[in-house]
Amino acid sequence: MKIDGVPYRTIWLDPDGWTVCLIDQTFLPHAFTIARTRTADAIAQAIVTMQVRGAPLIGIAGAYGLALALRQDPGDDALNAAAHQLIATRPTGANLRWAVEKVRSGVSALPPKQRAAEAYRLAGLLADEDVAINRAIGEHGLPLFRALASRKPPGERLNVLTHCNAGWLATVDWGTALAPLFFAHDSGLPLHIWVDETRPRNQGAALTAWELARHGIPHTVVADNAGGHLMQHGQVDAVIVGTDRVTADGDVANKIGTYLKALAARDNGVPFYVALPSPTIDWTRHDGVREIPVEERSAHEVTHLRGVDAGGQWREIRLTPAESPAANPSFDVTPARLVTALITERGVCPASRAGLRSLFDTSATRG
Ligand code: MRU
Repeated sequence: MKIDGVPYRTIWLDPDGWTVCLIDQTFLPHAFTIARTRTADAIAQAIVTMQVRGAPLIGIAGAYGLALALRQDPGDDALNAAAHQLIATRPTGANLRWAVEKVRSGVSALPPKQRAAEAYRLAGLLADEDVAINRAIGEHGLPLFRALASRKPPGERLNVLTHCNAGWLATVDWGTALAPLFFAHDSGLPLHIWVDETRPRNQGAALTAWELARHGIPHTVVADNAGGHLMQHGQVDAVIVGTDRVTADGDVANKIGTYLKALAARDNGVPFYVALPSPTIDWTRHDGVREIPVEERSAHEVTHLRGVDAGGQWREIRLTPAESPAANPSFDVTPARLVTALITERGVCPASRAGLRSLFDTSATRG
C-alpha cells in the first residue's frame, strides 16, 4: 500500500540485510514512525506492546525474530528459547506459532552456522506468501460485495461494517477483511465503511480509519455499541471482519466485540463474512469457545486513553475511578453458525468442517 505515494509493507529488511524494520502502529494515526529491531527481545517487545499487531503480521514478525535470535546464537538451546519466548507473546492468534514453527523446523536440521541465513530466507518467503494470500482473499471476496451492491437501488452506496483492524497494517500488505473492500473501491463500486472504534485499543478508530482515509474510501467511525442500531435501521448491508484463529469446525476468534456484531447481524439478516489466510486455521481445535485461549491484556488499556491534544502533544488520561478494577479480555469467539461465509485465499466456503475441508487439504496446509 502507498503512504503519500510511497509503497510500503508493514515489515521489511533494512538495506544492511539483517535489521528488521516495522511500521510502529502505536503512533498511528498521528505519526508515521518506523521502528528498527535488531534482537529477538526487541521483536518480542514490539509484539507485546503492539507496535506490530494483527495475527498475520505478528506471525511474520515472529519469524524474523527467530532469524535475529539465530544471528546472535545459532545453537539449539537459543533456537528453542527464542521460539518459546516469541510464541508466548500473544496467545490467541494461530499465525504466530505457525510461522515460528515453520522457521524452527526449517533450520533445526542445519549446521548452526547456516541457520541464521536460512531463517532470514524463510521469513522473507513467509512475508511474500502473506502478501499473495491476502491479495487472493481480496479477489475472492470481491464478487460477494459486487452481488450485494447489485441489489441496491442505482447510485446508492454499499454500507459495510468492520471491527478492529484487519487491513494492510494487520498483515504484510493488503489486509484480510479490508482486501476485498480495497478491490471493490478500486473497481469503482460505491462503498461506505462503518468503522467500529474497537475499544479498548481503538484499532478501528486509529488504524482502519487511517488506512481507509489514505486509500480515499468513504468511511465513518462509530462507537462500538452503534452497530446493532445501524443494522436495525437498514444502514448496514454486510459485516466483514478478520480473525486471529479459526477452528477446524469454523468457529472464529477475533477482537473482543466481534461476537456481538455477529449476533446483531444474524438478528437483522445482515451477512457476516470472515476473511482469513489459511495459516489462521487451527486444525487441532474444534470448539472455539472452549478451546481457544483468550488473551487477557492489561487493565490499563481499559482505564486509560492515549492520544494527542490540540497542540499535537501525546497525552494519557485516566477514564475510570482509581479504585475501580477493570478487566480486559482481548478476543471473543463467534460460533460458526453465526458466520455467513469464510473468505480465504482458495475461495469462499461455509464456516464448517466440510466447508474448510472442501478448500484445504489439512496435511498440506499445516506442513
Ligand atoms: O489485538 P490485535 O490488534 O492484534 O487484534 C487484531 C484483530 O483482532 C484482527 O481482526 C485479526 O488479527 C485479523 S488481522 C488480519
